[in-house]
Amino acid sequence: MSKRFLITTAIDYANGSPHIGHAYEKILTDVIARYKRLSDVPVHFVTGLDEHGQKVQMSAEKKGIEPLEICDSLAEEFQSLCQRLNISNDDYIRTTETRHKKVVQTLLQKLFDEGKIYKADYNGYYSVRQEQFVTEKEKVNGQWPKLYGEVNEITESNYFFKLSEHQDWLIDTIRSDASLIYPRFRSADVLNFLKEPLNDLCISRPKERLSWGIELPFDDGFVTYVWFDALVNYITAAGYGTESFEDYWPADYHVIGKDILSPPHAVYWPIMLKALGIPLPKHYLVHGWWLNSGSKMSKSDGDVVNPLDLINTYGADAFRYFVICEMNVGQDSDFSEELFQKRYNSDLANDLGNLVSRLLNMGHRFADGIIPKAEIEEAEEKVVLEHWKSLKSDIFDLYDTFQFHKALEKIFSFIAELNRYTEMRAPWKLAKSEDAKDKLRLATTLATMSEGLRLASILLQPVMPQTAENILNSLGQKSVELFSDHVEWGTQLAGSSYGEKSILFPKKDR
Ligand code: MSP
Repeated sequence: MSKRFLITTAIDYANGSPHIGHAYEKILTDVIARYKRLSDVPVHFVTGLDEHGQKVQMSAEKKGIEPLEICDSLAEEFQSLCQRLNISNDDYIRTTETRHKKVVQTLLQKLFDEGKIYKADYNGYYSVRQEQFVTEKEKVNGQWPKLYGEVNEITESNYFFKLSEHQDWLIDTIRSDASLIYPRFRSADVLNFLKEPLNDLCISRPKERLSWGIELPFDDGFVTYVWFDALVNYITAAGYGTESFEDYWPADYHVIGKDILSPPHAVYWPIMLKALGIPLPKHYLVHGWWLNSGSKMSKSDGDVVNPLDLINTYGADAFRYFVICEMNVGQDSDFSEELFQKRYNSDLANDLGNLVSRLLNMGHRFADGIIPKAEIEEAEEKVVLEHWKSLKSDIFDLYDTFQFHKALEKIFSFIAELNRYTEMRAPWKLAKSEDAKDKLRLATTLATMSEGLRLASILLQPVMPQTAENILNSLGQKSVELFSDHVEWGTQLAGSSYGEKSILFPKKDR
């Protein structure tokens, strides 16, 4: 088998319901996966759930149930969101699965046997309320912030993974590989972090404090803690330890939010892999945050946007369109339902939806429901064709460089062109004319609108797969499997039947 293009999302914490940030990351990754498949690249797309840890254990204790029960129900919730969003993942990994526990334990044992993990006493400040160690750095004006509650100095035995000896290698790697982190400016955060000497990473928690985790294979009094468990999901899902591992690994892209680049993904993970003799992922694609009036939307903040509410009101493709259109990958973006509705009504209901319903309407009225052949080419058609040519020459480059918001802008400007063309040609007037040339113009107009819509839909397929399929069906076509052969302006539609008139995006009022 040839090497798969392995693309992953972060695995979500099982400590609350999904919100727009989780949904966005999956959609972004899905757009890339779909785009690559359409470009004839064999893709393997993995997402999943990060299930162990203090918060899950605590909420299970509060509810008086097993932690796994909470995780099972959240796994269902996250996976059903993926389905609702039409996410085309090939695998869904849960860190409580046996395949994952085995890999984590194998790796821990290997590193322990090689002396790369050691036991030591850890002396530090412990926040009881947050159930975590904190450092002096977190103090504000010499005081621990209230959110930490009571902070005590404690000494605890734990296991540590040697990070520091790889610091120089990591700095060189990040400096020398300009394509490792996208957008490039995010490397600066990592290099900044690496200016300070690295402390070794505490990778365990004593079971009396945290039992909901993967047991250390060399000491059953401890479980492994957070990142050592979570990051390993990427190689578990790639089949580490099986013959097919090399068909998947290294990952081509880890798609993650900016909060988990440094240190987990850009410091711990490369060093873990280096210590294990496993190649590094090829790239990180680091996206920004969805904000709510300027601050990060997160589960602990009550005011999160529930993607399901929006999908129920506007449909999955409208949601996909909005988040891809409004986010310049790598930057932050503020969410507002008002803007959502504005975009929905103007771009989707008016520009795209109306074009489709007008075409179908006229196709049935003026052409007996059969897509006509373009009969002539006048200045009006030439403008459309030129616009198409310029769109086609830009669009793949925009998709390849993750400028999806610009790609959508261009596709929608072509859709606006088709609307302009329709207004100019006014087929409803041509239909009334007895002039033989006007009859040719009428057929040509319908053919040009149909062909333009066919091509626009194919380009929209990675972002709005269902809408593209619906439009293509209404032109007697199926969604395409590959871009090649399907993105030439041509006459392949003539003779196909128009589908029933339908409203793709009913207008919404608040
Ligand atoms: N479990 C860890 C990741 C482990 S990966 C080996 C985690 N989980 S998370 O649920 O907190 O976040 C999952 C992903 O969602 C992260 O990439 C995070 O950046 C992203 N988002 C969470 N909130 C977000 C926004 N408000 N906006 C955009 N994405 C953000 O971190």
